[in-house]
Amino acid sequence: MEKALQEYPAESSVDVADLPGRGGAGPLTHRSQDPRPERTSGKGKGTELVDLKQLIAQADALGPLPPTTVRLAEMADNLDSNLDEIADLIEFDQALTIQLLRAANSAFSASPVSIGTVREAVARMGTKQVVDMAIAAGVKPILQSSLPAYGLDEGALWRHSVAAAVGAESAQGFCQVELPPEGFTTALLHDVGKLVMGRFLSPSLVGLIRHAQEADLLDPLAAESLLLNVNHAELGGRIARRWNLPPRIIQGIVHHHQPGYGRDVICDVTHLANQVAKHIEAGLVGSGFEPSLAPGVAERLGMPPQAMDDLCLLAAARFELIRSRYDVV
Ligand SMILES: [Fe+2]
Ligand SMILES: [Fe+2]
Repeated sequence: MEKALQEYPAESSVDVADLPGRGGAGPLTHRSQDPRPERTSGKGKGTELVDLKQLIAQADALGPLPPTTVRLAEMADNLDSNLDEIADLIEFDQALTIQLLRAANSAFSASPVSIGTVREAVARMGTKQVVDMAIAAGVKPILQSSLPAYGLDEGALWRHSVAAAVGAESAQGFCQVELPPEGFTTALLHDVGKLVMGRFLSPSLVGLIRHAQEADLLDPLAAESLLLNVNHAELGGRIARRWNLPPRIIQGIVHHHQPGYGRDVICDVTHLANQVAKHIEAGLVGSGFEPSLAPGVAERLGMPPQAMDDLCLLAAARFELIRSRYDVV
């Protein structure tokens, strides 16, 4: 992993601490190192098109994540020594326990013996699976809304999020570096900023962003940044920080489109997971096309060229298998 970190770009462009509103609601301060397009006018166009302060206030006002979900996310890197606390935490939350047992029994529907307690679920499925399921159950209500501005109907963001989480979970077998245990949760939440951004994008703003993409050949994230002075990845990081999620998860969300600037393997695996999810959703698995990755990602993860096809096939098969477990339609 040390070797991989050395291969990141020397400058980190957007640090979590520099996000809009951190110590004031101003725009990003590292524009000169930022890979996004520079504006030519003195005043950012975005400040004229959308009220940045209002956008940030909306991100801050998004409801809290259930405390159980936050605590489980915090324990991701030390699951084995926290077994009792994990079971207690989940059992304390009755609604979560019901959801988890329903999911666990659907995963083992062929078994004649049903799973009746959280500890039985842990014994049958393993701690990691149970924690991942519990985290997914905690964020599901938040990620289910429709987002017409992004062309996402009700449930589409949730499907994409679960597909990405499965992509992250499947990636270890294809990477030579050790992947962080926060990968599942980070991938699950990587697009949470779209929840806020989507509410602010009027049809005319969506048209402008599309035009900016076509006219200036910008990717969607760069077009958001150019026109609005902030993008959904940065807003997602802001939301994750307000939810008190661990710094590594915040880092992965902020840099999921430009992982080289995150200087942490969590950014690379979240980026990979997002691309795998898009590939699955587009029905391209096994088509001969491969998801494209940002420069340096495959090298830093130690992914051989032929691994991408196999990863997509495995992730797509797992996604199909767990659709009912996570209640994904
Ligand atoms: Fe995204
Ligand atoms: Fe995404």
